[in-house]
Amino acid sequence: MASLRFTLNGREVDASGADPNTTLLAWLRERGLTGTKEGCAEGECGACAVVLVEPGPDGRARYVPVNSCLLLLASAAGREVLSVEGVAPGGALHPAQRAMVELGGSQCGYCTPGFVMSLFAEHYRPGRAEGGFDLEAIAGNLCRCTGYRPIRDAGRALPMVDAADPHAARLARPAPSPSALDYTAGARRFLRPTSLAEACVLRAAHPDARLVAGGTDLVVELNQRHARFETILSLEAVEELRCFEDARDALVIGAAVPLSEVEARVGGAPPLLGALFPLFSSRLIRNRATLGGNLATASPIGDSPPVLLALGAEVVAASARGERAIPLDAFFTGYRATALAPDELIARVRIPKPYPSIGRFYKVSKRVHDDISTVAAGFAIDLDEAGTVRAARLAYGGVAATPVRALEAEKALVGKPFGARAIEDAKAKAQGAFTPMTDQRGSAAYRAAMVTSLLDKLWADVGASR
Ligand SMILES: Cc1cc2nc3c(=O)[nH]c(=O)nc-3n(C[C@H](O)[C@H](O)[C@H](O)COP(=O)(O)OP(=O)(O)OC[C@H]3O[C@@H](n4cnc5c(N)ncnc54)[C@H](O)[C@@H]3O)c2cc1C
Ligand code: FES
Ligand code: FES
Repeated sequence: MASLRFTLNGREVDASGADPNTTLLAWLRERGLTGTKEGCAEGECGACAVVLVEPGPDGRARYVPVNSCLLLLASAAGREVLSVEGVAPGGALHPAQRAMVELGGSQCGYCTPGFVMSLFAEHYRPGRAEGGFDLEAIAGNLCRCTGYRPIRDAGRALPMVDAADPHAARLARPAPSPSALDYTAGARRFLRPTSLAEACVLRAAHPDARLVAGGTDLVVELNQRHARFETILSLEAVEELRCFEDARDALVIGAAVPLSEVEARVGGAPPLLGALFPLFSSRLIRNRATLGGNLATASPIGDSPPVLLALGAEVVAASARGERAIPLDAFFTGYRATALAPDELIARVRIPKPYPSIGRFYKVSKRVHDDISTVAAGFAIDLDEAGTVRAARLAYGGVAATPVRALEAEKALVGKPFGARAIEDAKAKAQGAFTPMTDQRGSAAYRAAMVTSLLDKLWADVGASR
């Protein structure tokens, strides 16, 4: 049994003996660090936010806020964690705390530690200018009584970082990278390999193990459905799964790269992918969530499948037997079922180039931000020089048991000048193509109506500029 050690608020702590199913939040609170609050235990409120010291896309250390309710304690092994108790070591308020106090950003105070941690990370964000505040920094934090204006004002009032600030000094040194771990407590085990070959061997040796990457789906299962896993195989330290390659013929994204890092690296290209991230939950979630996890979950309302289907992406699956490419069209085999064999895992996603001339992502949800889709659509249309549709891929989520393409509607576009008429033809084919279901997010009729009205939206968006 390896021990479970990490750095918490500047001191090394030993959490050995804790069940691998324990979350960091539960462990912190049990230890008396009750500044970190539990609101929802499912990633929705940010009351449990803590900060990790992580390597950024440029390799330099930075503070990354995450929801501790969705972070397995064992995932913290070897890392540096800061909870709200650690932001003001000398006793004087941290600038994020001071701004919240002075601008009236807190009433009952339940949400306040979470906001402070998100503001703390924002304070040290590389490239933040004087008075600059990225509102996205607090998009994953909810407050039920103060109202958001004073909290936003606190964010805007954050001063520039003081040269003598010990937290700034910490960032001058490299961040720890999660190392290999084989941790057992009682009969339960947490395995964290660092190479793909090892991960595949462990996958084959432990067919019942649950894989975890960011944990933003899996740990909800643990918190809300009280699932307990005997063996957990973590993929987040596997070097090959953290790849990102923008090559001439394809964009290749490792299955375990956190979405916020993908977002920073793709920089809006292809636009279809760039449009996905701002609408994908909150930054607290995107700092952990991965494409591998989103695809493997195979949720019919996952947001990346319509985008990746429209882009003609393929999944590269790996096992001890080798690798194989699975076109995303053939990946979803039924409700929450995939073409992965029991010994396979997703290694990376490959998006072919050139990108389509026109790409749009639409997400229909009850709130614009931080919400799950009712219906989502990824549309990719390739035109020749004369403006005729050479290829079209129209993909939807939330209208069937799996993410799907509207194949007949695609055919109705190909070979025609891209215009209102072609859109009408596509709508006629898309109408009634799927049999969506009714749930608390929307009725079947509403979802079916979205299939065609999103094509109208596409034309309203693109047609105006043509
Ligand atoms: C508050 C909240 C908001 C959310 N909002 C959105 C949203 O807007 N849009 C959306 O699409 N989703 C959303 N989600 C769902 C979730 O964040 C995503 O599905 C995310 O991409 C999952 O990635 P992960 O790395 O956290 O997966 P994990 O939780 O680590 O894993 C999810 C599943 O995939 C398996 N798995 C993970 N990696 C691999 C791999 N490489 N190979 C094979 N299997 C693997 C795991 O075994 C598990 O069954 C939200 C979740 C929460 C809690
Ligand atoms: S307790 Fe609500 S996000 Fe963690
Ligand atoms: S101050 Fe009460 S929930 Fe935010």
